Amino acid sequence: MRTNHTISINHSKCVGCGMCVNDCPDKNIYLEGSKAVRRADDCLMCAHCLAICPQNAVSISDFEDIPEDLNSFSPIDGESILQLIKRRRSVRQFTQQTVSDELVQKILQAGQYTPSASNEQDVSYVVIRENLAEYEQLALHALQLGKPVVNVFSERIKKSEIDEHFFFKGAPLVIVVKAFSVVDGALAAASMELTAQAMGLGVFYSGYFSIVTRFSSKLKNRLGLQKNERVAATLVIGHPAVKYQRTALKERPEVLYD
Ligand SMILES: Cc1cc2nc3c(=O)[nH]c(=O)nc-3n(C[C@H](O)[C@H](O)[C@H](O)COP(=O)(O)O)c2cc1C
Repeated sequence: MRTNHTISINHSKCVGCGMCVNDCPDKNIYLEGSKAVRRADDCLMCAHCLAICPQNAVSISDFEDIPEDLNSFSPIDGESILQLIKRRRSVRQFTQQTVSDELVQKILQAGQYTPSASNEQDVSYVVIRENLAEYEQLALHALQLGKPVVNVFSERIKKSEIDEHFFFKGAPLVIVVKAFSVVDGALAAASMELTAQAMGLGVFYSGYFSIVTRFSSKLKNRLGLQKNERVAATLVIGHPAVKYQRTALKERPEVLYD
């Protein structure tokens, strides 16, 4: 969630190149003489000015993280990203191995660095490891309450065997993605899923869990859902007990070239 930050431009470093002026989507910076100057404090706080400045003259207060130097990042080729996406499958069989804290933090970072509309950063997370069975029991109860509605959402659930592992399939980790904008939450979840799979983990979206949270005040309270906040996605994560040999067959999308 966004907190108040202040952007400072160090005029002893600023050379007036104008890069921040040209890149600011809010038109919140202008040149006065040969120095960049901000117009107001209530900008998007997107930090493009900080990211682009060749002189490192821009700083922003009150973030827990510090900017990392992108020149130190390894190069990434598009073919590898495409292969990652093609390789990705919904994994529903997991080993007993727990997911390390380090991996959990990296998955959360993938969500943190995903864009959000108006840079709202309205996405937050519940990491469930200790109390998975308890959540699954609450979800089963909520499913009974909401079954007529859930049936409308999915014909498949009528055919499903609903046991105590229906929602999480015995995985050691679940990350519930909460958001005021479901689009923001879903985008964060997609980044997290791909990052987790790239790190050798298996993931599936428990859409049924996300849906049943709407019928249970106990689940809403437990997840700390605020008014107008929704579960955008539920990521079920663990070390995969399966290995796929080839890509899935997916329909070619309809594309209009105009
Ligand atoms: C939003 C969403 C919700 C989903 N919910 C469930 C679910 O509740 N249970 C489940 O087993 N799979 C769930 N899935 C996985 C889909 O069934 C799966 O993505 C689809 O069958 C294609 O398989 P693939 O992901 O391996 O390509 C969900 C996927 C998405 C994107």
